[in-house]
Amino acid sequence: MTATEGIDIKCVGLTKTFRDFWMRPRVKAVEGLDLEVRRGQVYGLLGPNGSGKSTTIKMLLGLLSPTKGRIAVLGRRPRDVATKKHVGYLPEESYLYRFLSARETLDYYGRLFRLPASVRRERIDMLLDMVGLEAVEHRPVGEFSKGMQRRVGLAQSLINDPQLLILDEPTSGMDPVGARQIKDLIADLGRRGKTVLLCTHQLSDVEDLCDRVAIMFGGRVHAEGRCDELLVQEDSTTIRTDSLPDGVVNEIRGVLARHGIGHLDVERPRRRMESLFLEIVERARAQGTETSGARSGGQVADFLRGHEAAKRRDAPAVPAAVGAGVADAPVETARPVDTGLIDSLINR
Ligand SMILES: Nc1ncnc2c1ncn2[C@@H]1O[C@H](COP(=O)(O)OP(=O)(O)OP(=O)(O)O)[C@@H](O)[C@H]1O
Ligand SMILES: [Mg+2]
Repeated sequence: MTATEGIDIKCVGLTKTFRDFWMRPRVKAVEGLDLEVRRGQVYGLLGPNGSGKSTTIKMLLGLLSPTKGRIAVLGRRPRDVATKKHVGYLPEESYLYRFLSARETLDYYGRLFRLPASVRRERIDMLLDMVGLEAVEHRPVGEFSKGMQRRVGLAQSLINDPQLLILDEPTSGMDPVGARQIKDLIADLGRRGKTVLLCTHQLSDVEDLCDRVAIMFGGRVHAEGRCDELLVQEDSTTIRTDSLPDGVVNEIRGVLARHGIGHLDVERPRRRMESLFLEIVERARAQGTETSGARSGGQVADFLRGHEAAKRRDAPAVPAAVGAGVADAPVETARPVDTGLIDSLINR
């Protein structure tokens, strides 16, 4: 095994300059970006508005050509059709056909990947259930609320059972229940060996989910590393215990003073607003309160867990052009990356 195996995204010196009508350089959106995302990682791309996150994503997807630099996605060039089959993408804006229903939308994307009708039906059932839209599956998506459209977009990005999932602001517009479910889904996909590139302004999402992060500003990466290493505060210690009476706290102060430590903060921990919100909504649901919106999503679709192939052993064969890795391959057997291209990138 070479040192470069298992790298799903590799960029070296990636640069994008947008030019004006007269071809004069106008905006340096991304400058000299180096990025490496390994298989199975959940990788966070952070940065303020206009720092170049979406431009980077669009180059990874082959939607924009880099001005300079090199990219390998799943060991291939981004515009390679073989790459696209294994990539799922949720854009920052939901581009959906207003008059198609949720089911028709997913069926349309399933057809683009040339999935057979039986596979489409099965996956769409699972995905609609997973994102909590099965009760409204026949309504045109143009009527959906922003968060409901986001849920359709997320289901669409998963229809091809991608190895690499690129999510641009997946929880934007989502209610906290939906956001929590998306986070759980992303974590689950990561555990199952899928690679996720997550672009978000929700820093709590990043803390909860990401193995590594890159923080961009002005088109450049200013910090990169493992989340736990970047966030750990080396100069303080937290001790959690049951609620302490004043006498015990004073004794602890005495112990610390004997060790020359004068500073002790004692406070009651607060629960997160997210956990309070989820509890209240759960209670309302349990009381049977009606809603015309999204339901609480179900569990992760079986095919994303790699269970589909086993279940469909008798199903009709997938056309050869799309068979490998799309319809039948469980996560573990996804096509290995072409290390040659990565090597050639790295060694330049
Ligand atoms: N098609 C374009 N033509 C000209 N400039 C563009 C184009 N797309 C993006 N830019 C510029 O490139 C810079 C980076 O934009 P980008 O959309 O990548 O930022 P972002 O980090 O995704 O921001 P946000 O958090 O707001 O989504 C911005 O200055 C933006 O105006
Ligand atoms: Mg963006």
